[in-house]
Amino acid sequence: MKKRKRTKKYSNKKILIISGIIISIIIIFLVIYFLIIDKDNIHPVFSYKTKITIEAGDKVPTVNDYLYKDIEDGKVIVWDDLDIKDGKVYKVGTYYGKFNYDGEERKVTLIVKDTTAPIIEGVNNIEVLAFEEKPNLLEGIIVTDNSLEEIEAVVDGSYDLEKAGEYVLNYVAKDSSSNETKKEFKLIVKENKDVTISKSSKGYTIKNYHGITYIDNIIVVNKTYGLPNNFAPNNLVTINGYIRVVDYVRDAFNNLKSDASDLGLNIYASSGYRSYSDQNYIYNNYVKMDGQSNADTYSARAGYSEHQTGLAIDLNTVDSSFERTSESNWLKDNCYKYGFIIRYPKGKDDITGYVYEPWHIRYVGKDLATKLYNNGDWLTIEEYYGIDSKYK
Ligand code: DAL
Ligand code: ZN
Repeated sequence: MKKRKRTKKYSNKKILIISGIIISIIIIFLVIYFLIIDKDNIHPVFSYKTKITIEAGDKVPTVNDYLYKDIEDGKVIVWDDLDIKDGKVYKVGTYYGKFNYDGEERKVTLIVKDTTAPIIEGVNNIEVLAFEEKPNLLEGIIVTDNSLEEIEAVVDGSYDLEKAGEYVLNYVAKDSSSNETKKEFKLIVKENKDVTISKSSKGYTIKNYHGITYIDNIIVVNKTYGLPNNFAPNNLVTINGYIRVVDYVRDAFNNLKSDASDLGLNIYASSGYRSYSDQNYIYNNYVKMDGQSNADTYSARAGYSEHQTGLAIDLNTVDSSFERTSESNWLKDNCYKYGFIIRYPKGKDDITGYVYEPWHIRYVGKDLATKLYNNGDWLTIEEYYGIDSKYK
């Protein structure tokens, strides 16, 4: 009995050991089976990524990017409509392609997104003098983007080029996917000692720019507002061979002359641009002949003559006889149509500082000329803008 019992016990232990060995062999077999033997051979169902998302500017995915494992080198995806430059894709969109694998056509999707903001380079603070030329704030600014789009930066913020100060502005660049970059810079508008600003009695802004007076972009020259000695217009041309005026004044004058001629009137230029020294000579001669207080009623002192601007012309016979001619009559009622004014109208001596000069026309442009014509009742520049004409 005892012996039998012992034999049975021993037999159970043996069974356990054998079972353990068998289980171990199965585990080892399974490990080898799953880790070493190619899964594709075990699971013949082929699976791959059907959709890949990339960023604009990234490399176009290959077949292997769609597969879970690099098993098929040399296979190529045929894309429907994909613009590839140097192996990269820049245009945002959804694209479709296909490749063959295992004798079957495999369809893939590529989504190209742009989530990257443009890059702005060349940003520096900018210094300008108040009232000087408008600076090109975009000069030297380079915008690049991963999408290769051409993007222009814009300047965000407000500033006043006629008011000294530091203006904090931003360059802003935005791509078509609404990715935006902002870069801050300062526009430093420095005080300009060569420019002064004042207001006329009628509220017009009088700007003195390097010694030249402007109201509404019109150069003003009278006994109060002179010109620098060295001032000379830089676009002078000749009429009549030797008389010089600014180019656009010559064109306006030629139109006037030609229309007058069609009416049988003979209008010609007798004097145009006069330099500071020309005027000095003329004025001093009158002073010698007539005395200064008389001369001051009809001749401007050097530096105070409109003739130095190249915008004024004396016509025909420069004396009181001209007033009685048909040319003078026609001029009085028509010169404004060509942009000219009768600068020293009759009865306005106290306002302009000069006696009536029916022969002296001044170019101001058609708009202002029409206002000053005032339906035949000529206004002066002094009245219109509310300024004086008096020597200091
Ligand atoms: N005769 C005008 C006023 C001048 O000398 O400019
Ligand atoms: Zn004149």
